[in-house]
Amino acid sequence: MKELTIRRPDDFHLHLRQGENMKKYAAASAASFSRALIMPNILPPVCDPAGLKAYRDEIQKSCEGFTPLMTFKILPHMKAEDIKPLKEAGALAGKLYPAGVTTNAEDGISSLDQIRDVLFAMEEEGLVLSIHGEDPNASILEREIRFLPQLEKLVSSYGKLKIVFEHISRRESLLFLNELPERVAGTITAHHLLYTLDDLMGAALKPHLFCKPVVKTEEDRQALAEAVLNGHSRLFFGSDSAPHLKENKENAVVSAGVFTSPILMPLLADFFEREGCLSNLEAFVSERGASFYGLPLNRETLTLRKESWMVPDLIGGAVPLLAGTELFWRVLP
Ligand code: NCD
Ligand code: ZN
Repeated sequence: MKELTIRRPDDFHLHLRQGENMKKYAAASAASFSRALIMPNILPPVCDPAGLKAYRDEIQKSCEGFTPLMTFKILPHMKAEDIKPLKEAGALAGKLYPAGVTTNAEDGISSLDQIRDVLFAMEEEGLVLSIHGEDPNASILEREIRFLPQLEKLVSSYGKLKIVFEHISRRESLLFLNELPERVAGTITAHHLLYTLDDLMGAALKPHLFCKPVVKTEEDRQALAEAVLNGHSRLFFGSDSAPHLKENKENAVVSAGVFTSPILMPLLADFFEREGCLSNLEAFVSERGASFYGLPLNRETLTLRKESWMVPDLIGGAVPLLAGTELFWRVLP
């Protein structure tokens, strides 16, 4: 196949940061995606209606024709009455970060009991609960699995709450998801579909592939790949593209986050094509996420052509994954 045209995709997990560089990050996403669910872990976090609107305006001004779908960070001191105004301001989801689990999550939740009323209010308002599902007190490779009992508790305590288990990275988590009701879905990143711990640190340490949750074993990768390639009905795409400045990634202490937005659709097209499942790409990136969030499907299209190009070395001060390498599918403007 020389050219591929699909319904324009959405990215249901994106970090855009703020300020001057944000324009470049937003443009990199807008080149392929119509909409993106914007993560709230900026400083200070998106956690009230005014902050949410201001951040949405900043994104919209920086990048025309790209629709930010907004989230807020769930904080320990939040109250039930804070939730309706957030929904009215345009929030689609609230994001739960266990305290300390990832970049800018020090102010997260240390016990689910802290946010009981908030979760009931979200359930009432029909807001989606988006979860960074790792237990920060567990050992690095076990963090996601150790979070599963908490996920189960959330599902059973809030009988109508829609939940997204973000960036699933382990085979066990998938098996677990399969046993949960339809109102629980998962996002999968491109990097967890393509890479493992051996890519991260088998030959040499690759800081640009370091993220939370870390990429896992080949067995895990294969389980995710098989589910996604075969069109698992409750998995959809969320890139977790998370740019950090080059100096914070090429350092003795490395920030967690992989900057993938400039290469996502070429990578995914190549992967689905190699696996003989190109016809399942569109539902993964352009349909199931929108349906889960109750959004209309995009009407525009995206075309990729088999044409090689080089991934740039730097965009907005951040090094994209695969910088300086050749890719074989190109997004047409
Ligand atoms: C994200 C970031 O940098 O904001 N980092 C990451 O490794 N994925 C935060 C997150 O989603 O965990
Ligand atoms: Zn993220």
